[in-house]
Amino acid sequence: METVKLGDREFIPFICEDEIKKAIKKIACDISRQYKNSNPLFICVLKGAVFFAVDLLRLLDFSADMTFIRVASYCDLTSTGEVKMLQPLIEPVKNRQVIIVDDVMDSGCTYRALKRLLLSQGAGSVSLAVLLYKPDASKCGGISPDFYGFKIGNEFVVGYGLDYNDMGRSLKDIFVIKD
Ligand code: IMP
Ligand code: MG
Repeated sequence: METVKLGDREFIPFICEDEIKKAIKKIACDISRQYKNSNPLFICVLKGAVFFAVDLLRLLDFSADMTFIRVASYCDLTSTGEVKMLQPLIEPVKNRQVIIVDDVMDSGCTYRALKRLLLSQGAGSVSLAVLLYKPDASKCGGISPDFYGFKIGNEFVVGYGLDYNDMGRSLKDIFVIKD
């Protein structure tokens, strides 16, 4: 894996494709065990989670319903703290067991906002599956993902769906910013 340059920044190899695959397999096993008989609705948070969601759902041992929602909270390298709804949910969630699928949990603002919204629409339960979890970045105390692949520090990462100003999403591996 080589260093990549995106716009004005350089990124160095961090988590390789094989490690990502293994982590997703483990999450898929855990979700399969817990949700096999509850017909959960997976909500993929666009755009970043699309790679993770597609790979994850194909590894479940049941056939799953998936839909999409689009929100944005990041500008350049930092979270604005404000979660903007760019494409709302169309499917009814009433009494559904909902699993939000996102690329990374950082401040937790996205999860908190979506969880509130889905519960207010009558979801039976709401949980979160993320590939990456930044525990030290939490600004919403007491919130953590129910399923995650890797715990990482507060560094900014790209690849496998994660972007720097919309660049770098299609990289197969995950890269971390070089300071
Ligand atoms: P939160 O609301 O702060 O938890 O942030 C969640 C969203 O911020 C994620 O869905 C990503 O889109 C974005 N984000 C957070 N950290 C990173 C990062 O390191 N690289 C790219 N996007 C990130
Ligand atoms: Mg995102």
